[in-house]
Amino acid sequence: MDVIRIEGGHRVEGVVKVEGAKNSALKLMAATILAPGVNTLTNVPNIADVHVMGKVLKRLGASIEVLDEHTLQIDTSAVDSWVTPYQLVAQMRASTAVLGPLLARFGCATVAMPGGCNIGARKIDMHILGLQALGVEFDLDHGDINATTPHGLVGATVTLDFASVGATENLMMASVHADGVTVIDNAAREPEIVDLANLLNEMGARIRGAGSPVIEIEGVSELRPVTHEVVGDRIEAGTFIATAGLVGHPVEVRGFDPAHLGLVLRKYEQMGIRIERSARSVRAWREGSLATVDIQTLPFPGFPTDMQAQTMCLLALGSGSCVVTENVFENRFMFASELQRMGADIRIEGHHAIVHGVSGLSGAEVRSPDLRGGAALVMAGLVADGVTVISDIHHIDRGYECFVEKLQTLGAHVERATVPDAPEA
Ligand code: UD1
Repeated sequence: MDVIRIEGGHRVEGVVKVEGAKNSALKLMAATILAPGVNTLTNVPNIADVHVMGKVLKRLGASIEVLDEHTLQIDTSAVDSWVTPYQLVAQMRASTAVLGPLLARFGCATVAMPGGCNIGARKIDMHILGLQALGVEFDLDHGDINATTPHGLVGATVTLDFASVGATENLMMASVHADGVTVIDNAAREPEIVDLANLLNEMGARIRGAGSPVIEIEGVSELRPVTHEVVGDRIEAGTFIATAGLVGHPVEVRGFDPAHLGLVLRKYEQMGIRIERSARSVRAWREGSLATVDIQTLPFPGFPTDMQAQTMCLLALGSGSCVVTENVFENRFMFASELQRMGADIRIEGHHAIVHGVSGLSGAEVRSPDLRGGAALVMAGLVADGVTVISDIHHIDRGYECFVEKLQTLGAHVERATVPDAPEA
């Protein structure tokens, strides 16, 4: 069993560069299906989820050449299958992002229905309702969703119940060839949506309004392959900025746009973290104690759910009490019970966490419950008394490239280790 072992209390400071955004790269890779030919994506993070999306595309008939660690050349001219099996969707729910592109290119798609995951049920009903409005017919067959377009795809207005990132992306990609104009109302506004719209427009699509709540897509007959750089990962950046706030010493985080972390940085300033913004980087440090503030997660430009656990880690050591409200996923506090094993005082009541700051944490054996919760436990280990050992670290590998190595260059005493599996109970 692989674990991350951290010896707390060592000085952490310096400069770190973030990779391209996981949540953008995965959708851009799926979008290459729309432009038959050789597409080149640069600044692609070398992480487990990207490898799974690579397997999905290859299974559909694409070929992928890795030009260098962060540059993928994806040839989608020979894509001739539209089936994405459960074995791949179960490894990564974002595999469902191929639904929209396959429908646009072939008029049909078979994608395994995703099951639940550890942060909640993560339904795809809004994807389905939206696509039905464009003329897609669905039937569920032995766990697979069969999608067909017997009368073609026709532009329509779709109002989402909730600004879902995945539904907005699938609708945007499905509608690029639809007859007429599609309007997505109450669309998600995340920077990754803008990155996807930019890629599609470079390919020749006509998309207006990405980044606002109303996106308009005018159907075009074909798209051409392009070269595109993935936007910097605001969540990886936020994780290192939160780390600087926790340890106190200055950390400069490069390779992303600070405007993509607007509310996070303002909340951190209210907590007493000093933030110096530049065009493509942030320098963060802290002089006094950590103040507590209430946080509630919401779709962009609200506070990102993907920064909730890392922020709760800071608040757990704040002077005072506060409430963290999770509005996006129903089951995203599992990390809190692991942090309690390290001495945090957190009470969960439904989708609220009541956090009473404590003066210190103590190293313990903990389990990474999910991607961001796992990263937050590593952060906690950096300031905890003694040694912290984190298991189930495959969650962290899904979304952070060289997390341990980057922390080592900042001076942290952290390493990956292999330990014998625990005996079965
Ligand atoms: C994406 C991100 C994830 C981030 C999330 C919210 C990727 C690969 N993942 O996930 O890191 O935390 O956005 O910023 O980009 N919902 C429904 N029905 C639907 C669609 C969604 O009920 O048809 C619910 C989900 O269960 C969830 C909420 O809406 O509770 C938000 O989901 P959504 O915005 O779609 O997130 P994802 O695209 O899955």
